[in-house]
Amino acid sequence: MAHVDVRKVSILGKESIHCGFHLISYIVETVTKTLPSSTYVLVTDTNVGNLYVPAFQTEFDARKGQARFLTYVVAPGETSKSREGKAEIEDFLLLNKCTRDTVILALGGGVIGDLVGFVAATFMRGVRFVQIPTTLLAMVDSSVGGKTAIDTPHGKNLIGAFWQPEYIFIDAAFLETLPAREFSNGMAEVIKTAAIWDEKEFASLESRAAEIFAAIQTPSVNFAGRTESTRSPAQQLLLSVIAGSIGVKAHIVTIDERETGLRNLVNFGHTIGHAIEAVLTPAMLHGECVAVGMVLEAEVARQLGVLSQVAVGRLTRCLKAYNLPVSLSDPRISSLPTARSLSVSKLLDIMKIDKKNSGPQKKIVILSRIGATYEPKATVVADKVIAKTLSEAVKVVPGTPSKSPIRMATPGSKSISNRALLLAALGTGTCRLKNLLHSDDTQVMMNALVELQGAKFDWEDGGETLVVNGGAGALSVPRDGKEIYLGNAGTAARFLTTVCTLVQTQSSGQRTVITGNARMKQRPIGPLVDALRANGSSIEYLESQGCLPLSIAPAGLKGAHIQLAASVSSQYVSSILLCAPYAAEPVTLELTGGQVISQPYIDMTIAMMKTFGIEVVRESDPQTGKLLDVYRIPKGVYRNPVEYNIESDASSATYPLAIAAITGTTCTITNIGSASLQGDARFAKEVLEPMGCKVIQTETETTVTGPPVGQLRALGLVDMEPMTDAFLTASVLAAVATRPPLPERTLQDGSNPNTTRIIGIANQRVKECNRIKAMIDELAKFGVETLELDDGLEVYGKPIEELKQGVSVHCYDDHRVAMAFSVLGSIIKETIIEEKRCVEKTWPNWWDDLENKIGLEVEGVELSFIHGAASASRPTDDSSRASVVLIGMRGSGKTFIGKLAASTLRWQFVDADAYFEQKHQIGVREFVQKNGWSAFREAETEILKELLEQNGREHVISLGGGIVETPTARDILKAYTQKGPVVHIVREIDEVISYLGEETARPGYGEPVIDVFKRRAPWFAECCSYEFVNYTGVLTSSGALAENDTKAAPSLLSVRDEVSRFFNHITGQRPNLAPNLAKGKRSYFLCLTYPDITPALPYVQDMAAGVDAIEVRVDLLRSPKDFDKLGPYVPSTNYVTEQITALRHKTSVPLIFTVRTVSQGGQFPDHSEKEAFELFFTAVRLGVEYIDVEISWSEKNIQDLIAHKGHSQIIASWHDWSGNMHWDSKLVEAKYHAAHDIGDIVKLVGKANGLEDNFALHNFVLRMQAARDAKPIIAINMGVEGQMSRILNSTFSPVTHPLLPSKAAPGQLSFAQIQTALHLLGQLPAKKFYLFGNPIAHSMSPTLHNTAFEALGLPHKYELLQTEAVGEEIKTAVTSPDFGGASVTIPFKRDIMPLLDALSEDAEAIGAVNTVIPRKREDGSLMLYGDNTDWRGILQSIRRSLPQSILQPEAALVIGAGGTSRAAIYALWKLGVKNVYLFNRTRTSAETLVATFPEVHIKLVDELGVWPNDGPAPTVIVSTVPASATSLDRFATDTLYLPASLFAASTGGVVIDMAYKPAETPLLALAMNVGKNWRTVMGVEVLLEQGYDQFHLWTGRHCPKGIVSDRVWQVYSMSA
Ligand SMILES: NC(=O)c1ccc[n+]([C@@H]2O[C@H](COP(=O)([O-])OP(=O)(O)OC[C@H]3O[C@@H](n4cnc5c(N)ncnc54)[C@H](O)[C@@H]3O)[C@@H](O)[C@H]2O)c1
Repeated sequence: MAHVDVRKVSILGKESIHCGFHLISYIVETVTKTLPSSTYVLVTDTNVGNLYVPAFQTEFDARKGQARFLTYVVAPGETSKSREGKAEIEDFLLLNKCTRDTVILALGGGVIGDLVGFVAATFMRGVRFVQIPTTLLAMVDSSVGGKTAIDTPHGKNLIGAFWQPEYIFIDAAFLETLPAREFSNGMAEVIKTAAIWDEKEFASLESRAAEIFAAIQTPSVNFAGRTESTRSPAQQLLLSVIAGSIGVKAHIVTIDERETGLRNLVNFGHTIGHAIEAVLTPAMLHGECVAVGMVLEAEVARQLGVLSQVAVGRLTRCLKAYNLPVSLSDPRISSLPTARSLSVSKLLDIMKIDKKNSGPQKKIVILSRIGATYEPKATVVADKVIAKTLSEAVKVVPGTPSKSPIRMATPGSKSISNRALLLAALGTGTCRLKNLLHSDDTQVMMNALVELQGAKFDWEDGGETLVVNGGAGALSVPRDGKEIYLGNAGTAARFLTTVCTLVQTQSSGQRTVITGNARMKQRPIGPLVDALRANGSSIEYLESQGCLPLSIAPAGLKGAHIQLAASVSSQYVSSILLCAPYAAEPVTLELTGGQVISQPYIDMTIAMMKTFGIEVVRESDPQTGKLLDVYRIPKGVYRNPVEYNIESDASSATYPLAIAAITGTTCTITNIGSASLQGDARFAKEVLEPMGCKVIQTETETTVTGPPVGQLRALGLVDMEPMTDAFLTASVLAAVATRPPLPERTLQDGSNPNTTRIIGIANQRVKECNRIKAMIDELAKFGVETLELDDGLEVYGKPIEELKQGVSVHCYDDHRVAMAFSVLGSIIKETIIEEKRCVEKTWPNWWDDLENKIGLEVEGVELSFIHGAASASRPTDDSSRASVVLIGMRGSGKTFIGKLAASTLRWQFVDADAYFEQKHQIGVREFVQKNGWSAFREAETEILKELLEQNGREHVISLGGGIVETPTARDILKAYTQKGPVVHIVREIDEVISYLGEETARPGYGEPVIDVFKRRAPWFAECCSYEFVNYTGVLTSSGALAENDTKAAPSLLSVRDEVSRFFNHITGQRPNLAPNLAKGKRSYFLCLTYPDITPALPYVQDMAAGVDAIEVRVDLLRSPKDFDKLGPYVPSTNYVTEQITALRHKTSVPLIFTVRTVSQGGQFPDHSEKEAFELFFTAVRLGVEYIDVEISWSEKNIQDLIAHKGHSQIIASWHDWSGNMHWDSKLVEAKYHAAHDIGDIVKLVGKANGLEDNFALHNFVLRMQAARDAKPIIAINMGVEGQMSRILNSTFSPVTHPLLPSKAAPGQLSFAQIQTALHLLGQLPAKKFYLFGNPIAHSMSPTLHNTAFEALGLPHKYELLQTEAVGEEIKTAVTSPDFGGASVTIPFKRDIMPLLDALSEDAEAIGAVNTVIPRKREDGSLMLYGDNTDWRGILQSIRRSLPQSILQPEAALVIGAGGTSRAAIYALWKLGVKNVYLFNRTRTSAETLVATFPEVHIKLVDELGVWPNDGPAPTVIVSTVPASATSLDRFATDTLYLPASLFAASTGGVVIDMAYKPAETPLLALAMNVGKNWRTVMGVEVLLEQGYDQFHLWTGRHCPKGIVSDRVWQVYSMSA
């Protein structure tokens, strides 16, 4: 055998871990020699097997002698690590007659190691085995330590054993074939081990990421690395990293093999990481979840005051360098559908079952610094602490800061930190940098200076102090031609460019190369390079001119006269200044190009150079004394001070000082004072002192003591130009500053004395957000009034007690907004700061410091909406309240639809044209005439920006049709689609043209409308995220519509319903999802198999009765002109859109959009993937609720669809028609997992060959549903033999209907058939329903409900129960086990209440119950629930019949003051009617009624036809008095006279008579005679509507309205 160099690591007293490169022959040699056996079995997975089994085979063949060498290959991936997987290997071993002396070799990743190890542990009570890990994770973690396990549906690794391998062979050459993501996955464990144990190792990991990656990315040819002499430096590094990491783990395992204490340490990051993994697996890998877990657990340690922020920052940066996610908001995580379930409570719940816990207490490994832990084991941590770290939001508990008088330093200034680091590195001697702000820039500069051999760095005090050993400016070209990688660290790139010119020649030909990431390669560096080149330095651009990467010759800096264009960045100037002392000749730096930018930063550099011993002289004009832009820098070497205390960031310092001011306590900031170079250092003197604080400022310290709480003075006028960033802090103080300002500050313009007018801060509009606007909006939530000024704002102080509590502050991802409002939170109760992490930009540990250093308690708050909307039709909140923007051709109906949408969402409607006219005080048409189109477009774009900024939430904004004409406006719209919906309102162009013919208010186009339309159509499509089809036309494809023309054109009801469904769905306010998808319920969908749906529209409602959704088989749609084409077919997007739209106007039932391919049993061509996804995206745009996506489409397209699906849900489906699908096979399980990853719902379809296949299916479903993260699953067997599976399937069972032309699939049953079968199988017991009341003999209710039960195949019965009172009979009925529900009518609507356990909100408000529903409590016991559907019947009747011209009725009249009128008033209130008139013959009972509805504006009417205060005539009239009590005869006595003036409203309206008999009551007769455009509604119609609702409440099923109403009308007309 060829010579091999291995590095051995010992574990449990044996040197059994052997590490090296290209070890296969060595492994086989060692195993056959030292582990003699009759049989060697190598187990691997297919990925690894294909790559490496042949090599093992060859080596064994050469050495095995008499012994057998067997191989067994399993499928890759976690699913193999199961009971079944284990059994299969065992069967293989038994079949091959393997005995106790067998040696098993596990070749592969952790899956193979864990699985095979467990087999070895139990086979023949334990056989010898060898680990040959091939992933990095397996090398450094899973193969070391002897832990073996398999997964069960209840969780991972729950069953296993400790079983030590004989050898662990680490062959790092295997890593060359490992996918990069898997490599990073393993690096998480390597970083973890270094973080808990070895700071030196950690430092090398953090600085050498690029090299380590290089080691696996460059293939080693000719077995390079097998011997020391052939090992490249990169290989050396990789091996030492791996061996180092293993060494630590081996050491820990040796001390504590069975994981009783110390071994727990290797679980750093795992307590939280595992919980995250449980939710995100398998989409995210173990190491990726642990990476996030480590950062969060480090934050827990920081929160406990144990770990410094520097350490948290280093850990985070190091993980990022290896491409690992570091927070849950990483896009790789947040884009996953499962990420929605990452709630704090869920994570805590999962952590409960962590093996490390002691009892209920959770344990976490707490770091105390990089390389050490707080305890030699995991530490108990309170749930509250973990919850705080995990929460996205926080709350400051108001009180007196308990640490007062506080002494603290705030984080170091970023600019000073960067400069100090470079100065100390270039200086002589050792300098201890304190309070350094550790950032990407400092980290990158440290790495680079180490590479340049220019300085050494060490951390002290657990990371609080950076010890810099300066190299006095001696620098070398990095070894081995290594490039210096700067990532995207901008300051570092600028500073280091000049630093690299200081490098002196060593050997010829070498140059220094600095490079960065893609973004960095676009950032300019040209002016600096020009200046250095002109000075004689040789610098070349390696890629684009003017940008990194640069190659710099090591020739030293020449010096003397350097000219630099300084109008772009002061950092170029600082870069040259800082390096200038090391030039060959003294430097004179002349800045050219006029205006020098950011002079204060140049002054800062010069001042700091002075502290380090070099004095720069700025020249001045000898005549005028004016300072010139010329600097003289002497030659020299920086002399490092022993210690350099980096000044705090002055803007940050304003927050603790402001807390002292507002809470009346004392705070000292220890390293910022009057000598500070930062403008914001003046805040204490210039803002806090005049507000009434005591301020003592020395050169280096600032102390503030606030006046007693509530005693702050307003500021009057304050110019904050020198300290703009501090204005937010000043604003929150001003909000509670009520005492008058000092006399010299008082505003002389008559302003209120509580005014603080802040000016000079216009630049704050273009910071992280528009900060002026942000402060105005957020202060308004507290009830604080403000006024926006051109360059600032006015804040009017209010007494603290008057500020609103419980405010939730939105931070616009701006650290300063968050910190400023936490100041207010220290005195105002329950103030929630929504995005706590935005402080990371400048003060990552602000919340911890608030608690630990200032002494105010901070609590975590879970905002349910942070991770997006949840499933089922639960209303969702804030995140989905982003305003809706409407675009579309003029005349497409944006205003009409927009107003309806605003009313259903209860949001504000804004019309951009109206806004325009208000702003410019001139009509749009006149503006264009006066200023031309281009001026108009510009002004319009401005308005777009303003509208989006000012009305970003809870508005429906309708824009002008031409808004898409300019590229800027299109960009704004496109960008907005990331935040909220942009909806294109589409209307037939012919209709638009005819509509526009009548319109004059807006400017003429000057070209044909059709041309305008053609030009804009692609722009509308490009800018919108949704399309709403304003469907006014009639689809004309078939004559069938003509038969029933009332159903052909959509009534207004359908427009209102569709607007409500669409906008509630896309905004997530009420996603239109099927509630019956919930566990324990049954749901169904109807498959529509028509090539053209329109002929079936009149019957859709009846066909869909009972079901929860309708499936449109898009692959079966075929435009009539293509009916006779045969074979696979792709319907056009337009045709599909038309079809969906037509359907939408007949039903609000959720739709399922299915494109089934030929190979999966449909008609869509198998390879038309592009077309399929175009259709899917159309579905998303149309707000379709469910999209069926076959998992065989490409991953990339599917992920893209998922990223854009909004509130639509994905049904991930797999069909196998072959009849060979076995539900208990690995393959089906793999398909299930693949679908589970992608979908919100999983759909698997096979084919049954016999009844038993259905039981196999059922068992499979039960097994999958047992998993914690199970999703709803549709599992069906095709064919007649599979009918049983259709009956037993509980999620979205596909059903057919007798009226359909063909079944969508063989074996399909109707809804009614399935109900009957379920009943016969004992799964749907028959229930009894009743009507309670007296007299009820003529009631229509039994007809109504029994017809519905029968039509749906439900086995229930509805009966009358007429009694004298609510007594024993009724009690017996409602408590009997077969009680299904009851209707309640006069006179028992109130008397029934004492029997009930709970009432709906509506029933409570109306004070009457008409529906009783038995419900199961969580413990299984029954409760009785009372509801009221009368009002819904009335509301629905009004909505259905209201003329289209009436968007919102202004006034409505209710006649009568009995029980029914209560329901009527409630319905009108729900409808949003502003004026409700009430007429009753006896005024006192009307007054009583008014008193019970305090929220409703009810006005009593004394005479019909005369409306209070000359108010508008009603457009809705509801009569609740018996018909016999009314008359059209003016002179009739004892009856109520109905005058014709009731129907005076010119718009027409709707009149309802609640009386059932006679069919034509006097009121309805009058309306028909005199009412123009009045629609009439009979009592029976309302009865039907309320009955449909009642039926739905009892059964959870939509009532078959058509069949029921036909039958009820029939019976009614016979009795009438
Ligand atoms: N026992 C322990 O102490 C312990 C510790 C940590 C993790 N684990 C377990 O380890 C498992 C994860 O291990 P893993 O991350 O190695 O996953 P893995 O075994 O699934 O391997 C990852 C993927 O890489 C492929 N692969 C492996 N080596 C390759 C190579 N050299 N070239 C190309 N492809 C290669 C595999 O086929 C697989 O597709 C989990 O089951 C986890 O529970 C166990």
